[in-house]
Amino acid sequence: MSEFPSVSNSIPFTTMNTILCFPRTSSSSPSSSSRSILVTNSIPTSEELQRGYILLQVDKLGWSTNNVTYQALGEHSHFRYYDFHPAPISSSASVTPQTHGVVPVWGFGTIVASAHPRVTVGERLYGYFAPAKYLILPIDEKDANKYSMYVPRPHLPADRKVYNQIQRCSTDPLYTRETEDLTMLYRPLFWTSYWCQDWLACSGYRGGCDYILISSASSKTAFCFAYCVRKRVEKEHQKSFNVRIIGLTSKGNLDFTRKLGLYDEVYDMNKSQSESQSKWIYIDVAGNQALNSNIHTHFASPYAVSKLVVTVSLGMTNLAPGETNAEKIEWTTNLKSSSTMQDSGRITTTYSSSAAGFWPLTEQFFSPEWLAIRRLQLTSTQMLDAQKEAWADLMRDCPSWVKLEYVYGAEHVQKAYEGMMSSSGGLAPDKGWIWSMWDGASVGAEIGKAKL
Ligand SMILES: NC(=O)c1ccc[n+]([C@@H]2O[C@H](COP(=O)([O-])OP(=O)(O)OC[C@H]3O[C@@H](n4cnc5c(N)ncnc54)[C@H](OP(=O)(O)O)[C@@H]3O)[C@@H](O)[C@H]2O)c1
Repeated sequence: MSEFPSVSNSIPFTTMNTILCFPRTSSSSPSSSSRSILVTNSIPTSEELQRGYILLQVDKLGWSTNNVTYQALGEHSHFRYYDFHPAPISSSASVTPQTHGVVPVWGFGTIVASAHPRVTVGERLYGYFAPAKYLILPIDEKDANKYSMYVPRPHLPADRKVYNQIQRCSTDPLYTRETEDLTMLYRPLFWTSYWCQDWLACSGYRGGCDYILISSASSKTAFCFAYCVRKRVEKEHQKSFNVRIIGLTSKGNLDFTRKLGLYDEVYDMNKSQSESQSKWIYIDVAGNQALNSNIHTHFASPYAVSKLVVTVSLGMTNLAPGETNAEKIEWTTNLKSSSTMQDSGRITTTYSSSAAGFWPLTEQFFSPEWLAIRRLQLTSTQMLDAQKEAWADLMRDCPSWVKLEYVYGAEHVQKAYEGMMSSSGGLAPDKGWIWSMWDGASVGAEIGKAKL
């Protein structure tokens, strides 16, 4: 695995920040809403930093279609991805938080100044940052412990707290310096897939199913889901549960997806397949209305021999920033849980779906909802042990899946983004993108200086 080059000279300190911003759909024409702009603004000195704030140098970040979906849903009234990091104010660039948004990214950074009593300079952090050189973040006065700290965002619903958490690498049981790049790329996607698979497994795959169909099968979220199902089947159900995993992808991505070896079969999503009498679960990662309509029509046919048990909406790779119908995407909370204390002292938790009972039953998966239930069912040690095992397996298995590609420097990052947006198929599936707004040499130097 290649790394950012390490150099011995230290980074020349600059008080200027560069941040990648996007026009809000509400304040631009649809054709220009995916056009990015690099905004330069000044950052405060250590003395100017307000009490409770930190100045973070964002060293590097992972970029995938997940971030494009954040952008497309930046102003969506439920998702509100533009409400995590406000755009800077720049009169020369005509940018304000009202006209532009900042797409959140998962990345690593180093604290370069701190006005918070429990956060020290030099510490290495992992969190929900921004494509910027620096970020100025408030840290909750009370919510900074040995393992993590939180950015207070009272304007957002409480279920977004997972995005506010910043991990302290020195105490993170899943952290190693060698796996930082794979972590940025896979951590947010893999845990969604892992917990979604766990959610379905806990319902016995909705009373048992023979096939799991997954759209946008070449995406990391989709193939991590297939990987997690395989692992579960291997570990727990080997004899009694024999599900087949079918991937649907675009024609050009068939080879890549088949070579992963994570699906039993892979098909072009524009061709219909026949199948025998069986029960299916459909995991929709594409969010392609035409494809979904075809799939539902197929199963609804009076001649269909198989049954679609549930459609789970997990992603929207086909949703482009600026699409005017993005705001119409509906969000429903799926899981209603109730917990009862048994005489034995054990807590039993049951959950039910609140999705309307009309076929096709479509549910959205949001991991914080399911994690809240799992925390009542499992001890923290059980959860941590399961996660450590799953993560170690992933880190061993994933390096061959995609090739890491490094993009350094703000202008190069912007060019990479624009290139991806102008390609009709979006991000190539075999690419694992690691970006830095810094040039490679300076990033290497800073990482080398970070304390652990
Ligand atoms: N629910 C959640 O909490 C959650 C969490 C993580 C991710 N997700 C979602 O999962 C999806 C996948 O994210 P990822 O980061 O894993 O993706 P990724 O690895 O970057 O996926 C790349 C693949 O997505 C499809 N794609 C990308 N751009 C496209 C375009 N413009 N037009 C058509 N297809 C395009 C193509 O797959 P095909 O050719 O196979 O279609 C492409 O090979 C995203 O929508 C993301 O938001 C949801």
